[in-house]
Amino acid sequence: MVKHSKVTVTLTVNGVQRTAEVEPRTLLVHFLRDELGLTGTHIGCDTSQCGACTVLLNGDAVKSCTVLAVQAYGAEVTTVEGLGTLEALHPVQAGFWEKHGLQCGFCTPGVMMAAVALLKQNPNPTEEEIREGLEGVLCRCTGYQNIVRAVQYAAQQLASEGEPGEQVAATGGGA
Ligand code: FES
Ligand code: FES
Repeated sequence: MVKHSKVTVTLTVNGVQRTAEVEPRTLLVHFLRDELGLTGTHIGCDTSQCGACTVLLNGDAVKSCTVLAVQAYGAEVTTVEGLGTLEALHPVQAGFWEKHGLQCGFCTPGVMMAAVALLKQNPNPTEEEIREGLEGVLCRCTGYQNIVRAVQYAAQQLASEGEPGEQVAATGGGA
């Protein structure tokens, strides 16, 4: 069997610098889950279609199963664990709570990260723009209507609180 040499990868995850030695082929999603223990980022497919693994990479939503950990060297990554706290939910998390945006919850972390990126780009999206913005994340429970309502709720919250990127920037994920 061929032994792979390891490389050192350092990134800032949720505002904290993290380093691990991994094989060069290690995907970012495995780096986050297996090396850092951040299992909120889910793996839902092996075809890069489901979007359950979506995180913010330097502020942009990316499917972390499509990025090598070494490609993210030096980057700022925000996972769902970096969004908010139980005491102070991020507006997107509050939206899912208030509007019953989750069913089984498997897709929820990816949807929330995509929603954060969408609202950063477009703080006042129409329903159609929300559906377009989230189309890279699949919900197997197919409860899209309440997900849209959750994002609309978050947009209103963010509009009343200020700049949409602020909450994420505070945890180190903003561009
Ligand atoms: S795990 Fe399905 S797109 Fe990444
Ligand atoms: S809530 Fe079950 S997959 Fe989306």
